[in-house]
Parts: sequence; structure tokens; C-alpha cells
Amino acid sequence: MCGIFAIVTKEEQALGPILIEAGHRLSYRGYDTVGVATIPQAGEIDLRKDAGMVQEVADRYNFAEMRGDRAILQLRWATFGAPSQPNSQPHLDSDGGMVGAHNGNVVNNVELRQEFMAEGMVVRSENDGESCVHAVERYASQGHNMLEAMRLAYHDLEGDYAYVIGKTGEDRLYAIKKGSGLVAGIMPDATCIASDLPSILPLTRNIVRLEDGEIIIFWADGFEIRKVEDGSLVEREPELVEDTMEAVQKGGYAHFMLKEVHEQAKVAGELIHLLDKSPDVMPFLKRLKEARNIYFIACGTSYHAGLLGSIYLGRLTGHPSIPVLAPQFIAQYSSAIGPEDVGIFISQSGETKDVLSAMSVAQAQGMGVLGVVNVVGSTLMRESEYHIPLTCGYEISVPATKTFSNQVVTFLYLALRMAGHDTSLLNNLPSWIEQTIAAVESQISAIEKHVTPWNDLYCLGYGLTYPIALEGALKFKEITYAHCEGMLSTEFKHGPLSAVTEGYPIIFVAGPEDVPLIISGINEVTCRGGRAIVIGEEDARLHANAQDLIVIPTIDAPAELRPYIDALLSVIPLQLLSYQSSLARGYDPDFPRNLSKTLTVD
Ligand code: AGP
Repeated sequence: MCGIFAIVTKEEQALGPILIEAGHRLSYRGYDTVGVATIPQAGEIDLRKDAGMVQEVADRYNFAEMRGDRAILQLRWATFGAPSQPNSQPHLDSDGGMVGAHNGNVVNNVELRQEFMAEGMVVRSENDGESCVHAVERYASQGHNMLEAMRLAYHDLEGDYAYVIGKTGEDRLYAIKKGSGLVAGIMPDATCIASDLPSILPLTRNIVRLEDGEIIIFWADGFEIRKVEDGSLVEREPELVEDTMEAVQKGGYAHFMLKEVHEQAKVAGELIHLLDKSPDVMPFLKRLKEARNIYFIACGTSYHAGLLGSIYLGRLTGHPSIPVLAPQFIAQYSSAIGPEDVGIFISQSGETKDVLSAMSVAQAQGMGVLGVVNVVGSTLMRESEYHIPLTCGYEISVPATKTFSNQVVTFLYLALRMAGHDTSLLNNLPSWIEQTIAAVESQISAIEKHVTPWNDLYCLGYGLTYPIALEGALKFKEITYAHCEGMLSTEFKHGPLSAVTEGYPIIFVAGPEDVPLIISGINEVTCRGGRAIVIGEEDARLHANAQDLIVIPTIDAPAELRPYIDALLSVIPLQLLSYQSSLARGYDPDFPRNLSKTLTVD
């Protein structure tokens, strides 16, 4: 995801090295272009930017020589507009006297650009960061001061974002927060802002956190915060941050995995905003509609998301598709595919060798290659015909969590669109995910003690919850080192039932439409002494039949669509239960033994 950093110093000085260092610190967020601007009080803004890595662009444009007392840096992760020099940030206003950069998504960017051009402004890119600058320019050119212009522009810019902006002839910069992160750092002879705390901490631990709907005006030895709503002054003293850098990066959570589980609501919201506006969604859908066969191709967690995507597509559109593990795709289908077929290649990293090898085979046969990928600039992203970015930011923990949920959100969104359904229902997802996390967190610790003593267990699901059971089992295997097998619930009686002894744990994921079938499965194991731990909505039948019920909220969605969303929410208790069990066993869930986040080998 994008990142911004800006600084105002008392004296003119070499700001290039400070900006390059800030760029390195923000780079963990993922990016594909880099840009900096210094803003003199008299004379022209010096703007240097391009696609590439921080050091590479800094060397190419000699950032190190840049001097001044005000500067802005931006790292951009492409959403609106390809990763190119014009689309890189920061952006100038029409006459070059103002410069700004943003983080987040301005979702009405396309409409705004047309308005700005019609009003005679000079629009140089397709990027939504430029819309922030022109939205301020629109009002500044009418005679409003910068604060007033930003307050008025706030009503024009839809979406979640934070931006920083400055103009020549002044000694200050301005930044606003609406949904995206923004923190200020206070030093004796400089003030800075950034998208996150870790990128400020090496400069100062004296911090001011901004809230949504606030504008900070900052100069070398001071700042003031104003409410967007009425321009009134907000009193806020800087706070001293004493945490270690690692603790700060974890945002107060004990592990990256827990942080990333909690981030699922936010990243789902960002993705839905993006999908509504992304220019790649329409051609992506067109390719799917016209395809003879659609394959979902991936490994591990990404494969489980593809499996659920295939079920969504089949049930909502009536279009059958083939979910397949990437190496098996080569073994099974390489002589069956052709230009009429389309493969959706799914990968968090975009670098998994098994997936890239399958993609090469598909490309050699002329098959359409679509990507669903998190890491910007990855091989899968670069080589696919069209791609959808997962917009999860950096997923540090080896067990994938937020990338799984955004893969599933992507497939649900595409299936709903293909089926002609309204997707606005998905705007509720962030709230439903938050409610689920809050509801299940307190229930998990009572259940964990029935699971942790066992080094062998099962996780069963049916229909929409079958892929969720596979994913839950993978999380257990990965971070508890126990053998946990995911399986279709109806298959359990065909063999594994013989493993059941007194107290043997079997986790059932019960979708609302499959409760009677799941109850049959529950009784097959409980009558043999097994312990049935069920994940499902509040249901007297499940309470009556299972030893434990982890209740997820019954969401307010149309009855025919509720099971689709329920399946996605059901993964959350499995993520948290495996996390708690990993801790109880004394393991580090973020970095399980023998595993690597990105598998670039066969
Ligand atoms: C998920 O928790 C695992 N770390 C693993 O199964 C992973 O999903 C798999 O290696 C595929 O990775 P990718 O999504 O980066 O291609």
C-alpha cells in the first residue's frame, strides 16, 4: 500500500538523504513507484519521481543532492493508473506552485479528473493522488486559504485516504486524514508526518496521532490541528512512544499474525472500494464470461480461496470451473487447455514457483492468464494479462490470513458481478468481520484447551464451508505442528471415523444451510466418544448436539446470500483457535519451523 512522508525543517539543509531513509522505512508496505519534491519559499518546486525501487529511483534522479526546508516523499502502490513516471507521486497543481501526495484510494477519481479538465486544470496523470491536489487547487484558486480549500475539497474526494500538500511562498505543509493512517513527529527544529509510526520513530519518539476528519498544519517548530467539519482547533499534546520498533510494527499486537487477523476488516473495505472503480475488473469479467473453461490455479491457502471462488462462481452464475493445485494443473490439464480457456492464478507473493511454472505452461498453450495477487511488482502481477491486486499491504506472518480473506472477497465480488447481483451488500463486510472477531475472541480460550493436548485432529466442512475446513486445517498444521486433516464432512464416515476415541477433537464448520447434515456428522463422532467443536451461527440444534459451539454473528444479509458471507466469516475462529493453540504449545505462530513465506522452489 502507498506511504507518505513529509518534513519541514528550520534551516535549509540536505533533505535528500532524510527522504531516501524514510523511503526505505516505508518500503515494507509494498510499492512500485517512488517520488520526492522539495518546496522552496521562492522559486520552483523540485519534483523527481519514477517507477522502481527506492534506491534505484533515488540513484537515477540523484535524490541525495536535493536541499530545502520542506519536502514530501511518496511510495505508490498502483491502483489508479499504471506504475509509470506520470502516475508516480507527488503531483503538481496546474501552474506548478503547489505539490501533494496521498495514500489510500480516491474512489471517484475518474469522474473528478473529467471535472478538473473541464474546469481548465492541467491534469497530467490518471492517478488519484493528483485529484487530491486539484481538489485543493479548485478552491485555492477561488481565493480560499489552504485550510479552507482542504476543508471544501474534503467533500469532493470520496474514499479513504490521507494526503499532504504544500505551496511555494509559505513555510508550512498541510496534511489531512480520512480513513488512512497519519502520524506526526515533533522534533526540536523540525516537524514531520508519515503514514505510519515505524517510519517516524528513528527520527523522534515525540508523536501526535491524527484522527479521521482532522487537518494538521505543521511548520518547523510547531503545528496545529483543525477539525475538517468546522475548522475549530483541536488541543492535542504530543505523546512519548517508548515501545521497541518491533512492538510498534506489530501495532500493539503480540504477533504479526494476530495483527493481520484484525486487519482483515480494514483491507476488505479497501479492496471493495478498489474493485468498484478498478479499470481491470471489466476486462477480467469479460474474459471469464467468454471462457470455455475457467481454472482456479494456486497452492496452499491461495488454493483454498480458489476452491471457494469456484463454488461461488458455480452457484451464483451457473458457470462450472475447475479449481486445481498448480503442479497438478500441469500434470492433468496441460494437453487439454487452449486459447479458449482462462486461468485465474492466485498468489499472495506472486512468486510461488509452482504457480509460475503452471502459468508458463498456460501461456505456452495460449491460455488466458489472469492474476489475483498481493505483492505489487511480482512476477505473477507483471506477466498476467489482467490482474486484481489484493491491497492487503505487507503480510509478514508466514500463515496467510488477510490475503486469504481478500482473495475470497475478490471471488465473491466477481461472482456477484457476473451474476448481475448488486455488490453494495459487500460494503458491510468490514463491519461483519469486526463483529465476528469481537464475538469469537472471547470464546476461543475455553475451546483451545480441548484441542491443544491432541497432535491429531480433523476439521470438517460441507459445501461452502468445505474450503474453509481445509484452510482451518492448514492453519493448524502450519503453526501448531499437529496433524490436522481438513475434509468434506460426509467423507469422515468412509474411513477416518476409526480414529475417534474418547475426547478426540473434530471441528465442524456448519454453514446455515447445512445444519441438519452437519448434525448427522456430529452424532456419528460423539456417539463414539469424540468431542464435536462446531463453528456456526447461534442455533439451538447445534447447541443440543455438540459439546462446544463457537458462535459467529448472524449477519443481516439477504437469506440467499448469507451462506456465502457466513463461509468467509467462519475462517476467523479457525485462524484464532490455531493461533491460541500455537501459543499454548510454546511456538511462534509468525515464523513456524521449516516454512518460508515465499516458496520459489519446485
Ligand atoms: C499459507 O498460510 C501458507 N503460508 C502457504 O500455504 C501459502 O499459501 C502457499 O505457499 C502459497 O503462497 P502464495 O499465495 O504466495 O502463492
